[in-house]
Amino acid sequence: MSAEHGAGDPAPDPVPGPTAMPGPGAGSGEPVTITVCPDGPLLVRGGYELLDGDDRPIDPGRATVALCRCGASSIKPFCDGSHKRARFRAR
Ligand code: FES
Repeated sequence: MSAEHGAGDPAPDPVPGPTAMPGPGAGSGEPVTITVCPDGPLLVRGGYELLDGDDRPIDPGRATVALCRCGASSIKPFCDGSHKRARFRAR
């Protein structure tokens, strides 16, 4: 499984939440990039900080996270790959 992909590539495999490999990016001060996966999640990389609805930090446990934008994930805010089963279409 790889979280790296380019524009136009198929949606990547899901990047699960805190059980995944930790990475050095989150909170590092690195520039943040958000990649919109076609019909899939938003991949967030760099020095982001992830907060819940009450502005409390969520530990992503990794440098790159995939955030669900289809609403079908069972591990929100993270993508669990359910967008494929739900046949999510962003357009
Ligand atoms: S975008 Fe992947 S489960 Fe929602």
